Amino acid sequence: MSSQNKTAKPNTRQDDLDQFLPAGTPLTNPPTKHDSMPDPEKLLLETEEAPAILDRLNIFPFDWRVETPRLMEIYENSRDPGWSPSKLPWHTLDVEKFTLEQREAIAYWWALLSVFDASGPAVFARAMIHAYEIHEEDAIRKCFLSVTRDEMNHEEVCGRAITAMTPGGPLGSYEPKTTVGKLARNNIEWLYHNGARYWNGYKKAVEHYPMPILFSSFLFGEVASATLFHSMHESTEISVFKEAFKHIGRDEGRHLSFCLALLKEVLPRMTDEDKLIVTKQFRAGFVFLSGILYEPPEDFWQLPKSFLPAQRIIEEVAREAGFGVLTIDKRYENWRTAVVRLKTIVEPHGVLFPALPEIDVDGEDVSFDADKIVPIF
Ligand SMILES: [Fe+2]
Ligand SMILES: [Fe+2]
Repeated sequence: MSSQNKTAKPNTRQDDLDQFLPAGTPLTNPPTKHDSMPDPEKLLLETEEAPAILDRLNIFPFDWRVETPRLMEIYENSRDPGWSPSKLPWHTLDVEKFTLEQREAIAYWWALLSVFDASGPAVFARAMIHAYEIHEEDAIRKCFLSVTRDEMNHEEVCGRAITAMTPGGPLGSYEPKTTVGKLARNNIEWLYHNGARYWNGYKKAVEHYPMPILFSSFLFGEVASATLFHSMHESTEISVFKEAFKHIGRDEGRHLSFCLALLKEVLPRMTDEDKLIVTKQFRAGFVFLSGILYEPPEDFWQLPKSFLPAQRIIEEVAREAGFGVLTIDKRYENWRTAVVRLKTIVEPHGVLFPALPEIDVDGEDVSFDADKIVPIF
């Protein structure tokens, strides 16, 4: 041991230097040589104030304040939604088992859903950017990101279902093979026409209304979607769709929690004027979302005379194929239950509920502004 200690001489700095910089290598001077370090106190006196950021909408400057910790908790739980569209049991979907008519009818329902659910990623991404621009708390920005992510999954399911049933569809390169398919195609073109009008209204609305009003409108959409997917999960017999509805419904339930957590904070502080806007937005939400939850009212939906009779035929075909599109009576019951639930949430905060005569709900008569609609799944 002692002889080893004698021979193992520790490396000196010079040894290290010699290893990397053999003797004779010319040294290069550093670009700057400091005679002395600046005095920080003196430097501080010389600093200049940065120009103020005066833009009405700008994502800078940043801060990470959290005003609604509950939102942060829900966000934390949403990091892993626990499912993925690509891992659903698509291999169990035997397309050949369905007639051409049935495939076109099932794809139609997914195309109808896409007006609401496939618009989700763009709608919430826009809301997220807006939340940055108006310097909303970190928790709100994050909850929009989480919803955007979920909606991207829902959009993917719409796309996978439509592509499996009608490759290249719903419009594009898919040529309808049956009369039902041709009716479906025409209806989808009209649905997308209305979707485009919705998007134009939404883009204006998102910048026009303060966040609490936006959230009340989102709330309506989330109540609607949670209800819809829950019942579709129960009524469909096609296993991959049953599974998809279960997961999508759970996501929508989480979106509903986001809305409720925020509204619990903001509703009690809302002015009467803002509460009236919420009442109007609820009517707008009802009208827009009835497009899938019930039947599209004329207040917003521009549709040809053939639309409803065609939709009823197509849905009947899908139902016969085991795809559980709800009957009109079941839809009425479902939609009414969801809306009444919403009414009981907001009324204690002094928000008046609009009259929804279509499903026999009493309330305030309010005007409808198709130009500024916010609701979304
Ligand atoms: Fe969704
Ligand atoms: Fe949602």
